[in-house]
Amino acid sequence: MKTETPVATYSLPAIGAHWLVAVLILALLPLGFYMEGLPLSPTKLQLYSWHKWMGITVLVLAALRLGWRLVRRPPPPLPAPAWQQQIAELTHVLLYVLMFAVPLSGWLMSSAKGFPVVWFGLLPLPDLVGKDAALGDLLKEVHMVLNLGLAALVALHLAGALKHHLIDRDSTLFRMLPFKK
Ligand code: HEM
Repeated sequence: MKTETPVATYSLPAIGAHWLVAVLILALLPLGFYMEGLPLSPTKLQLYSWHKWMGITVLVLAALRLGWRLVRRPPPPLPAPAWQQQIAELTHVLLYVLMFAVPLSGWLMSSAKGFPVVWFGLLPLPDLVGKDAALGDLLKEVHMVLNLGLAALVALHLAGALKHHLIDRDSTLFRMLPFKK
């Protein structure tokens, strides 16, 4: 009788945080571009608040994920050509860097523009820098450029996962799903 070797998977907390961050980022990107084009109104200001709350939540989850990764190592990469493994590894590292850099650039921008960040309208966060209009404008550009990089990396990450699942037919996607194959 053929016995299947169990597939090493990510832990449930890692899987939960992965999909929560994925949903938040996939919501934040279009929300960011949409809200910016709106004329000033209570709705625009509400959308800015939601954007900041979700953005800070990504920052908190990214820190928790990194901490959990130190406690519970992720499963080893599945066998694949070395160049594929290197691209996957580099994409993962850059996604972690941007999960910190994008929200921090937004928070810094808000502080420089003199807009306080109150997480969920409950927890006031400290201003990371003093009010400085020129710095605020520069950070807005930084936030935009980092976001374009994040959008491109998310697309590459998604394409990689779909290739493994639909073409290579390996268990890459299943390792990041809460239910077992
Ligand atoms: C992963 C988290 C985040 C993503 C993916 C994201 C994405 C975006 C995108 C796509 C835009 C529109 C393009 C741009 O001008 O950059 C934007 C604008 C903006 N973001 Fe974020 N953002 C994030 C976190 C944050 C955080 C944490 C804050 C503040 C605490 C923030 C504050 C802003 C503001 C104020 C704007 C509008 C800039 C303006 O109209 O002057 N963002 N964001």
